[in-house]
This record gives sequence, C-alpha cells and structure tokens, in this order.
Amino acid sequence: MDTRLQALLSQLESEGQRHDQGELEHARRMLNLERATAEVLALWIRSSHRQHVLEIGTSNGYSTLWLAWAVQPSGGRITSIDRSAAKHALAGENLRQAGLRDLVELAQGDGVEAIRRLTGPFDAVFFDADRYSAPAQLESLLPKLAPDVLLFSDNALSHPQELAGYLAAVRALPDFESAIVPVGKGLSVAYRAGVA
Ligand SMILES: C[S@@+](CC[C@H](N)C(=O)[O-])C[C@H]1O[C@@H](n2cnc3c(N)ncnc32)[C@H](O)[C@@H]1O
Repeated sequence: MDTRLQALLSQLESEGQRHDQGELEHARRMLNLERATAEVLALWIRSSHRQHVLEIGTSNGYSTLWLAWAVQPSGGRITSIDRSAAKHALAGENLRQAGLRDLVELAQGDGVEAIRRLTGPFDAVFFDADRYSAPAQLESLLPKLAPDVLLFSDNALSHPQELAGYLAAVRALPDFESAIVPVGKGLSVAYRAGVA
C-alpha cells in the first residue's frame, strides 16, 4: 500500500474516533470499521481477485478505500450504497484524495431500494448498514450474485441479536459455507464456490 493511502487511512481513523466521541446523533457518526477488520476484509478480497464488490454502508468511505485498494490489482470495481448524501460527499472526496475515485460507483439510497437499481453480478458483498434490514437486502441481492461469491458482514459478535436475522438467512442459503471470524466486532463470512 502506498504511503499516501496509508496516511489517509490513519488520518480517517483518528478523525473518525474523535468525531464519533463528540457526536450525539448516531446517524451523523462515521462508525468506521476497526482497522484489523478492514485489513482482514481487504486481504480476503484482494487475494481472491474479486471483480465487482458491493458495499452497503459507505459512511465517509473508510472501508471503501480499503475495498478499492483490494480490487485495484485485478482491475475490479466497487459499488457502495449509503442513504446519506452528506456521507457520500465525504467518501467521494476521500476516494479522490487517494486516487481511487474512478474505481468506485457511489449509489445513494436506502439499501433495498438502491439494490433494485443495480444489475450486478457481484462476486463479493460487504453488509455494513442497517442490520435489521440486512436479510431483506440479502434476499433482493440473491439474483444479482455471481456463482462464486463471498458475503461479509461486520458486528456478528458485537450485535448478535440485531444481526441474528441476517446470520440465520445466510446459514439457510443452499451451497454456502459460513463462519464468524473473531476480529474487531466479529466478521461474518460466507462463501459459495462457483458451479463446476
Ligand atoms: C457502520 S456505518 C458504515 C461504515 C463504513 N462501512 C466504514 O467502515 O467506514 C453505516 C452506514 O450505513 C448507512 N445506512 C444505515 N442504514 C442504511 C440503509 N437502510 N440504507 C443505506 N444506508 C444505510 C449510514 O448512513 C452509515 O453511513
């Protein structure tokens, strides 16, 4: 990773923590991934040469920067959804600063409604928005998933009840294997191998 991106990520980590501590309104917090989770997620995506990653929950683009870095060598692309135009503006600026803006489509809207407008196919999805509507997001995404696909979600250990519907939906999917990686707040990972 080049030093410019490393510096930007470190800056966003400290700014995000400072901002969130002083922000009473939950919807205005950045709520960025822990660095260790971002590293595991990005290395997983990068080493498996994903081509079209969907992120649900952009915030100011902290995790989007990691994902864009992850797909860069394989010529992949990211689509990232958030309902907040203000957060998308921040994300766009951060991606521009890192020289990664061209790799990312920012799709503004509510998760399920925004998914309806996308065609896919996606070979990796990172769910990091509204945990209660994650099962509905997953359901509307099913026809838009590539045969060989990875699904990730944060908060599997920090918010098990809020994520229970999503985790149960993932476990019920045919042909997927899943696990929870005890990194950060708990990273749920599910994988379906492509049809032979
Ligand atoms: C946990 S933050 C995402 C953090 C980001 N992935 C990162 O690590 O930098 C969740 C984001 O999801 C957005 N969000 C919450 N519910 C949503 C929904 N139903 N549809 C779209 N975006 C939503 C919020 O505006 C917020 O920016």
